[in-house]
Amino acid sequence: MNQSVKAYRAAILHSIADPAVVGVEQSYEYFEDGVLVIDNGQVAKVGPAEQVLATLNGVEVIEYSNALITPGFIDTHIHYPQSGMIASYGEQLLDWLNTYTFPTEQQFSDKAHASDVAGIFLKELLRNGTTTALVFGSVHKQSVDAFFEACESLNLRMIAGKVLMDRNAPDYLTDTPESGYADSKELIQRWHGKGRLHYAVTPRFAPTSTPEQLALAGKLYQEFPDLYMHTHLSENLKEIEWVKALFPERSGYLDVYDHYQLIGPRSVFAHGVHLCDDECQRLAETGSAVAFCPTSNLFLGSGLFDLNKMEQHKVRVGLGTDVGAGTSFSQLQSLNEAYKIMQLQGKKLDPFKSFYLATLGGANALYLDDKIGNFSTGKDADFVVLDYNSTPLMSYRMQQAKSFEEKLFALTMLGDDRSVKETFAAGVSVHRRG
Ligand code: GUN
Ligand code: ZN
Repeated sequence: MNQSVKAYRAAILHSIADPAVVGVEQSYEYFEDGVLVIDNGQVAKVGPAEQVLATLNGVEVIEYSNALITPGFIDTHIHYPQSGMIASYGEQLLDWLNTYTFPTEQQFSDKAHASDVAGIFLKELLRNGTTTALVFGSVHKQSVDAFFEACESLNLRMIAGKVLMDRNAPDYLTDTPESGYADSKELIQRWHGKGRLHYAVTPRFAPTSTPEQLALAGKLYQEFPDLYMHTHLSENLKEIEWVKALFPERSGYLDVYDHYQLIGPRSVFAHGVHLCDDECQRLAETGSAVAFCPTSNLFLGSGLFDLNKMEQHKVRVGLGTDVGAGTSFSQLQSLNEAYKIMQLQGKKLDPFKSFYLATLGGANALYLDDKIGNFSTGKDADFVVLDYNSTPLMSYRMQQAKSFEEKLFALTMLGDDRSVKETFAAGVSVHRRG
């Protein structure tokens, strides 16, 4: 018997395609009594218990009752330095940045502080069942070293980058086109492709970079294979007016990034709340992705994201929490708010589409769907065990459910960190609820 093989038995759900493309029924596999077999940190097999158990030949089987095993959640936009300022009162984007965000990010010039916060942040992600995230650091390169060191010790698949910002921000938080380029390059050489880590070139957003900095960021993004580009786009109406004033020669916000060669595969734009059809078209044809950040869009009063429009244009969409503008690390809570955002627009969000967004859809947005996002054989064994009895109300609600679809929907409405019983990264338990 191979000692590295382990099997996990519970209800199991994973997405296999986008419901918007194949229809809901063809978009997932569900085993009411399923077994997930892990070998050497990768998925070896998934299927109904009655079939899989017979093939196991003495392998240890860990059983969970009243539980659902799913792939780990994928957060396509979050800021780790903002963990300590989550839930700061009363501002919309631009005032919020000046009042809360910039002073908070100043503290990350201190590597020891950055390491402390990176530890708190990763613990919080794993408590919420998120195993991969696309993460903003601060402008300080040591913030990214601290983050990747913490990820490496847990063997997590994570993407992060140093913020590039050389204008319209306090002096204590700015770099220069040249220093931003050199520091990013050093970090790429140190971390990109090391274990399960990936680097993202990270201009904060168009207003805080000069044309010279955006040009060098574009050069860097094109220079190394498989690099990510991570920024913000069309989140807030005042922000959009500001971008028009700063870049009058460009036809719109996305065109600024386009002009500086910052769009393409593995470019991820947070928000995209106020995009026109042409911009959606351009995102789709360049293979770029948008991170839908429901709790943040509501908290900052930014607007209502149009998921259906993205689907019509075939834009890749992932789900983001955008902490600290977002109000929860939980992808389940993000889906709760996403559903309400759709309702406010007279639209629906099917629970299997929600589930896709938080798992395989995120992997697709990040071009990691060959490695994570579902239980196809050979993928990383990043998975979570969700508890149907996490609270008295959840337990009572689940007892009333007449179908799995009803259970899944209630889980996305009522679920949060308490729903996550255990989280595994590359087959190793990295969080177990006490
Ligand atoms: N736009 C530029 N910076 C930020 C940020 O830190 N958070 C959000 N939500 N939007 C931004
Ligand atoms: Zn953000």
